[in-house]
Amino acid sequence: MTKQHQSDVLIIGAGAAGLSLALRLAPRYHVAILAKATLLESNTRYAQGGVSVVMDENDSVASHVADTLEAGAGLCDKEIVQFIVSQGPECIRDLIQQGVDFTRDNNAKGEHGYHLTREGGHSHRRVIHAADATGLEIQNTLLAQVKAHSNITLHESHLMLDLVHEKKYGCIGAYVFERNKKEVMSFRARTTVLATGGAGKVYLYTSNPDVATGDGIAMAWRAGCRVANMEFIQFHPTCLYQPGADSFLITEAVRGEGGRLLLPNGERFMERFDPRGELAPRDIVARAMDHEMKRLGIECVYLDLSHKPAKLIRSHFPTVYAHCRELGIDMCVEPIPVVPAAHYTCGGVMTDRNGCTDVAGLYAIGEVAFTGLHGANRMASNSLLECLVLARSAATHINHNIADRTLAPALPVWDESLVTDSDEAVVVSHNWDELRRFMWDYVGIVRTTKRLQRAKRRVDLLLLEIREYYSHFRVSNDLIELRNLAVVADLIICSALRRQESRGLHYTLDYPEPDDSRSPITTILKP
Ligand code: FAD
Ligand code: SIN
Repeated sequence: MTKQHQSDVLIIGAGAAGLSLALRLAPRYHVAILAKATLLESNTRYAQGGVSVVMDENDSVASHVADTLEAGAGLCDKEIVQFIVSQGPECIRDLIQQGVDFTRDNNAKGEHGYHLTREGGHSHRRVIHAADATGLEIQNTLLAQVKAHSNITLHESHLMLDLVHEKKYGCIGAYVFERNKKEVMSFRARTTVLATGGAGKVYLYTSNPDVATGDGIAMAWRAGCRVANMEFIQFHPTCLYQPGADSFLITEAVRGEGGRLLLPNGERFMERFDPRGELAPRDIVARAMDHEMKRLGIECVYLDLSHKPAKLIRSHFPTVYAHCRELGIDMCVEPIPVVPAAHYTCGGVMTDRNGCTDVAGLYAIGEVAFTGLHGANRMASNSLLECLVLARSAATHINHNIADRTLAPALPVWDESLVTDSDEAVVVSHNWDELRRFMWDYVGIVRTTKRLQRAKRRVDLLLLEIREYYSHFRVSNDLIELRNLAVVADLIICSALRRQESRGLHYTLDYPEPDDSRSPITTILKP
């Protein structure tokens, strides 16, 4: 007998997007939130730099919009950019009211009193932050309120397996795998929201935690939603190079505060690639690093802030300082070894400005979604901003429309009568490794058509094997995630093959220039 839960709204994901939406809906509706690991584990939890927002009196919405459009290399949706950027200050005020303790600065220009840092692509200081652990501060603050709310039920270690949708009702809920009990249960809701984050784990090297397996994108795709711009995977230039250790980001704010990228001989190289040097947008910096590492046959380059006062370094970057120190690197006196790694999924499930997808009753917000904000390259710290603004607009839309949605009768029973326990789990672990490695080698920072075609042949084979495995064996955590990773990998490869030009984060040696005449503006894939 499948265990059944029900709520007005089912939110899958407990990061910035899911939690802030839940708090906006809970005064009127019963909300269930699922997180597939602990409630804290998410991309949000690791966000360091901050949230970009216009607060300085010398800054303006027009300037933030212009910088975002510039970073997006001609593919941003201008109206969405304007919408999101202009809603930013109010969303930050809400966060402050909720108790988020952003770093203060008594000398700040304007009324606000907060320290604003700078990151790549921004022409002003406009990144509000909580030292270098902004995501953790936001996540902890929102979680505390969510936990205290009587109208919100939290379910951790609950991995959504698939959406359930019917012609008559649209999306009516989801099947969910309880990871501890290893059983499938169903969650029925009038409205379902994907806030499942990105897909960094599709690559061998990533700044993302284990939960970022693109589940929401794969599930929405299977449910009939269009996805867009999946070729635009952002590689963050500066992840700590530490073979064998868990990945760790060195925030772009280190470059914003004067950090220099160096070759092993101490030479600065970024000016050779872009006049903005270390503060050029990420696609340019990551590609320049990749170029230099390949040219010189070196494993990493170095990020140096040691010319700044040690006191400033330790107070601005306590998390980065402590982490490096534990590994024997003192960033106050020596440079940090760094490499690029997959960081952010610019494409995703297509939505409008309210988070509505192609399926009735299904919304997508946060990194899982494609709204048109990021275009071909996301500007630093625009992601948390998008999470907050879309949570707000989706909440308004849900509040207006949920009355029209009836709770569907019980979900069909999850049928396990034809499957057995797997005796070949090695297939799953092997395919996990293989997929992430070929994605890194063939669909990475610099691409070619031949490499993409090679990747396509491999992913087709994996998809076939996984489908067969899935139909014979009982589901497990790794199988569910692998099935989603393979779908996402396929979407990335197909989108990259379609884009016969280089633009923003998609760079191919076969078409090294942007070409408006040959490529569609947005790559849209339909199921
Ligand atoms: P997440 O915060 O990733 O949350 C996803 C949630 O979905 C998790 O709770 C997870 O358990 C759940 N989930 C996923 N799949 C399932 C499933 N199948 N079933 C149940 N639950 C599921 N952006 C900025 O703007 N500024 C920054 O400074 C910044 N720094 C970053 C630093 C790092 C190291 C990383 C990795 C990212 C950074 N980003 C930053 C990007 C930003 O953090 C993310 O884009 C943003 O936090 C995404 O929030 P989200 O709510 O959409 O998803
Ligand atoms: C960082 O702190 O460098 C990450 C910022 C971001 O991804 O927006």
